Amino acid sequence: MSKNELKTAFTPTFIGNLELKNRFVRSATWDGMAGNKGEVTPEQLHLYQTLAGGGTALITSGYTFVSPEGRQHHGQAGLDQDRLLEPLAELAKVVHQHRSRLFIQLVHCGGQANPRVSGLPAKAPSAINHPLFAQQPTELTLVEIKNLIHRFALAAGRAKEAGCDGVQLHAAHGYLISQFLSPAINKRQDDFGGSPINRFRFLRECFLHAREQVGGDFPLTIKINGQDYLENGLILDETVEICQRLEEMGLDAIEVSGGSKASSPKQPVIRKIDQPEKEAYFLDEALAIRRAVGIPVITVGGIRSPKTIRTIINRGIPLVALCRPLIMEPELINRWHEGDASPSCCTSCNGCFKPAWKGEGIRCVRSESEEN
Ligand SMILES: Cc1cc2nc3c(=O)[nH]c(=O)nc-3n(C[C@H](O)[C@H](O)[C@H](O)COP(=O)(O)O)c2cc1C
Repeated sequence: MSKNELKTAFTPTFIGNLELKNRFVRSATWDGMAGNKGEVTPEQLHLYQTLAGGGTALITSGYTFVSPEGRQHHGQAGLDQDRLLEPLAELAKVVHQHRSRLFIQLVHCGGQANPRVSGLPAKAPSAINHPLFAQQPTELTLVEIKNLIHRFALAAGRAKEAGCDGVQLHAAHGYLISQFLSPAINKRQDDFGGSPINRFRFLRECFLHAREQVGGDFPLTIKINGQDYLENGLILDETVEICQRLEEMGLDAIEVSGGSKASSPKQPVIRKIDQPEKEAYFLDEALAIRRAVGIPVITVGGIRSPKTIRTIINRGIPLVALCRPLIMEPELINRWHEGDASPSCCTSCNGCFKPAWKGEGIRCVRSESEEN
């Protein structure tokens, strides 16, 4: 493939009024490098500087907790307090030095939160036992739900105040917003459960309150599961309707992922993407949503080669998001821009998680072992 064939991927595009210099997004990535309270650290400044310098137009932060009991991992970023704003402003500055953009992904892990990390009980839409949860969570009260909606909005406001370029609400992968959307997980019988419109209410309220907090011009986006891949879970037709409703309400872009840790084999982070046929494993869902909305759709999941990227863009998806390839090779986008169109060398072994679980932060263990 010649440089010319990937030309469109290096043309600018927009999310809302925000211009992006090319079509490459770093998908949200927990890096295990944040401080104990969720604050930005020097290690993260270095990581983001490398990514931004490597040519990625838009960097989505790791999932960032909006409330302390919503944490899942050590080293997870937080934006639940005003004092986290200043170090985040440093991160935004570092990214902007390279004409790259920074979105903060906001999350509450709900029943997937880890009491050993947060010191607090895990809470979810319903107190059920499910493979998604390590233990049965407590059911959220209506007062707690309203408080969490407010916390999402406050965190979005802090992201804006810190100089970040946008916010992504994490509505995928079986975390709290996704738990509310899923009929397999949400068994509530009040206004936040039951019918599709009720299960959508938590996301809707989080979005509307966040919008009120940040104003009309600030990009507000979501990452959502096309499908849950759970028995009686969220299905694509319902996701399409949710996306249409959110677009009417002023959503700026949609990143389409799928599944959760309980949905094997169709999970968010699928291993062994070592052949072209395995690439872009949520593209069909992204295309279905793309056909139903006018705002930009971002596809993520196993995208490894310029050839696949060209096909994706030609089919009407303006932006592609990558995670593991940029852990292995943060300069990948520049390499492609300079005309070396060989695919990412990432085989998706998922070894990058291991050092982060040990408290050392993510890194590609495969390239390390090749160097030794
Ligand atoms: C180390 C690691 C951390 C991740 N952290 C997040 C996260 O914080 N939020 C999120 O939405 N997805 C997260 N993901 C999933 C990625 O954003 C992406 O959806 C998935 O890895 C598929 O893309 P890829 O094949 O390019 O890696 C993570 C994946 C990895 C490997």
